[in-house]
Formats: sequence, structure tokens, C-alpha cells
Amino acid sequence: MTTIPPLDEIDLSGMEFWELSQADRAEVFKQFRAQDPFPFFEEPENPLGPNGPGYYVLTRHADVVHASKTPELFCSGQGATGPLDQGEQVNEFFGSMINMDDPKHKRLRGLVSAGFTPRQLERAMDAVEQAGIELASQLREKGEFDFVQDYAAPLPLKIICDMMGIPESQYAFVLEQSNIILGASDPDFAQEGDDLLGMVMGAGIGLAQLMGELGAHRLENPTDDLTTALMTAELDGERLTEQELASFFILLLVAGNETTRNAISWGLHFLTENPDQRERWRNDFDGLAPTAVEEIVRLASPVISMRRTVTTDGAELGGRSWNAGDKLILSYWAANRDEAVFADPLRFDITRQDNPQVGFGAPGPHFCMGAHLARREITVAFRELFAQVPTIHATGDPAVLRSSFINGVKRLPAAV
Ligand code: HEM
Repeated sequence: MTTIPPLDEIDLSGMEFWELSQADRAEVFKQFRAQDPFPFFEEPENPLGPNGPGYYVLTRHADVVHASKTPELFCSGQGATGPLDQGEQVNEFFGSMINMDDPKHKRLRGLVSAGFTPRQLERAMDAVEQAGIELASQLREKGEFDFVQDYAAPLPLKIICDMMGIPESQYAFVLEQSNIILGASDPDFAQEGDDLLGMVMGAGIGLAQLMGELGAHRLENPTDDLTTALMTAELDGERLTEQELASFFILLLVAGNETTRNAISWGLHFLTENPDQRERWRNDFDGLAPTAVEEIVRLASPVISMRRTVTTDGAELGGRSWNAGDKLILSYWAANRDEAVFADPLRFDITRQDNPQVGFGAPGPHFCMGAHLARREITVAFRELFAQVPTIHATGDPAVLRSSFINGVKRLPAAV
């Protein structure tokens, strides 16, 4: 029995929509693509100021791609993570470069890339292998467990913290703060009447302090970690400020940590639901890993969407013209199920060849900086599972985060 309301009653600003199952959401977006590919919604209430003009959702793959690669017409600087305008300071504090346009974006991405080198990445890869081996062997002893808490969450967290040089004693603190930043709309993380904004700001400030202290310490006592590399990286004689480092760290945590965790968690769910695919992958792990990982990211779409704002009256997109100031939500989740691009889009097919998935964003200046690392993390995560606990499977449905931004899995019961 379907529970989907008629299209004109759907409200993507209301939390009811984000409580629908993944299958029901897919059906809604399919109907939108066919009947109204840029549905318009009023904005949710803005705790920081007057309400804005509302927003359109891009539900088709081609439109998401076009907006991503045309930043002069569809910009990020007015806010890229959701429909609300939050002011430049909040945007940059929490989003760092993700909420910037050139030339600011280019400068920051360039500086960060100078630290985020192949050598740093290689270092992280070693940590990925190590962490995967350790965590998978612990699952064998446990027998039954929450897969998110015992495997999918600690793996990327350990890697990012290790890369940055954060001491292990701070991992739990870092996880808790990043859960608050991304989970604020979920009743498990915040109750009605809570000061959400205060909680999110508090979490951000806590992380910034941690990073500020570490950064200052590394300037005096350099090591070979990413924090040292970022503190000393130079581009045209310029360096990152302490504030920029703190904001980038918050971005790395929220962009690189929860996303990878959710891809791995959804991955186990998809493999459990599709035992034939699971068997195929097990029998030819290395051969199928590249396509399997793309397919997991496509269907998981851990980042549901990003926003762009139209810069120029008359900008063309999707066969119509837009006005400066129009807010567009680029739904990666919907684009990744567009039947014009993906054959049988709801099918989990680890051998899918033609898979231009946009889970890491579409090509353009903001394309995920961590895509390479994330692919490697997901590959190692499953390689170690198949190697050490080959009978692992989910024993229940994922508890899905109530969020319009992150397609999160809070808990996933599993057993070996
Ligand atoms: C499965 C895992 C991941 C997914 C699904 C994901 C997804 C995304 C998406 C959708 C964007 C925005 C693209 C856009 O606006 O056009 C993004 C940006 C970004 N991601 Fe990832 N990401 C993942 C893992 C990572 C990791 C592991 C890191 C770093 C360690 C990372 C770092 C970043 C950064 C720094 C940006 C901002 C780039 C910019 O604005 O120039 N991500 N990611």
C-alpha cells in the first residue's frame, strides 16, 4: 500500500516528506520529473531573519549537471547547503569553501589543495586499511551489533581525525559535535523546544576551538599531518588563517565523515536486500569494486542536495528562463534516479556500466574534494567485511535520519 499524498500536497519544507520511505520519495520525484520538473516550495521558517522567496527543486539529472557547471549563472556564495539564507559569516563558518564563489572559492580550494596532496591522501589510505582491518575483526567477536555505531561511523571518523592529527581521546567529542550539526532536525538528536541554532553554533565553536589549538600547536611543533600541511601551505605568498582552518575542518568533518558513513551503511542494506549482487561481488571483489562503489553512492546519495542561486535575469536552465535571486535546490538524490539517464533506476546493480551518478556533486568547481578518498574508504570497508565476516548482513531496516539534506542512517542492526 502506498502512502504518497498527491503531488500538490507534497511539501519538501515539511518534515513529513522526509519521513516517507526511500521508495515513496522516489515515486514522488518520478512524478515531479514527469509533470513539474522544477516544483516550487515556500521556505521553512528562518530563525535568523525574514523568510525568503521560496525555492525550486531541480529533479532532472541534466538540469543538476547544467547548474553545477555554470557557476557564473548559478552561484554558491549566497548559501549552498539549504534554501535559507544564513548570512555570509555563518555560511563561511560552517560551510567554508562550499558556500563561496570565485575568486574567494578558488583561493581557498587552491590553498587547501596545496596541503591535501597525494602524499597526504596516501597517508590517509594507509590509515583506511588499518582501521578497516581492526574494526572488521571486532565485529566477528561481537556477533550482533549496530553496524553504524560499530563499523560505518568509526571508520571515516578515525581516518579524518588521523589525517588531521586529532588525538584519539577527542574522537567521541568530534563525533558528537558533527552529529549535532547534521542531525539537528532529527528527534533523536534534538527535542522540540531545544535551541537548535544555539546547539549547532555551540558544536561549531567547540570544533573550531579544538582545531584552533591544534593548528597553533602544529605551527610551533610541525609533524607530517594534514593540519601542519594546511597551516604551512602557501599560495601566492598567502596562508590559511586560523579561522579558515577551523572552518575547513568543520567542512571536512561534516562533508567527509557522515557522508562516507552513510554510504557504507546504505551499502550493507542494499547488499542484504540483493543477495545475488552480494554473491557476485564476493566472488570477484576487486573486479567489481569500481562499479559497485559508484552504484552504492548513486542509490545512497548521502548528500541529498545542494543549493545554487541564480545570478542573472534571463539565465536559461532546463528550457526556461530564471530571475536573479531564484533559489535552486539541486537534488542529487532525485537526479540519481532519473529514468532518462539510468536504466531501471531503482535497481541496485553493482555491474552498472553507464553510471554518471552525481552523489559527489556534478562536474564543476565544487565537485567533492574527497571523492577519491571516499571511494577508497568504501572499497576497503567492504573488502574487509567480505574477508573477515563474509556472512555479515543487516537484520532489520535502517533507521533513517529525518533530514532534507543528509540521507543518513542512524542505526542498522546487523549480524555475522
Ligand atoms: C560518500 C562520501 C561523500 C559524498 C557523497 C560527498 C558528497 C559531496 C557533495 C555532494 C559535495 C558538493 C558538491 C557541489 O556542491 O557541487 C561535496 C563537496 C565537498 N566534499 Fe565531499 N562527499 C563525500 C566524501 C568526502 C570526503 C571523504 C571528503 C574529505 C575528506 C570530502 C570533502 C569535500 C569538500 C572539501 C567539499 C567542498 C568542495 C568545494 O566546495 O569546492 N567529501 N561532497
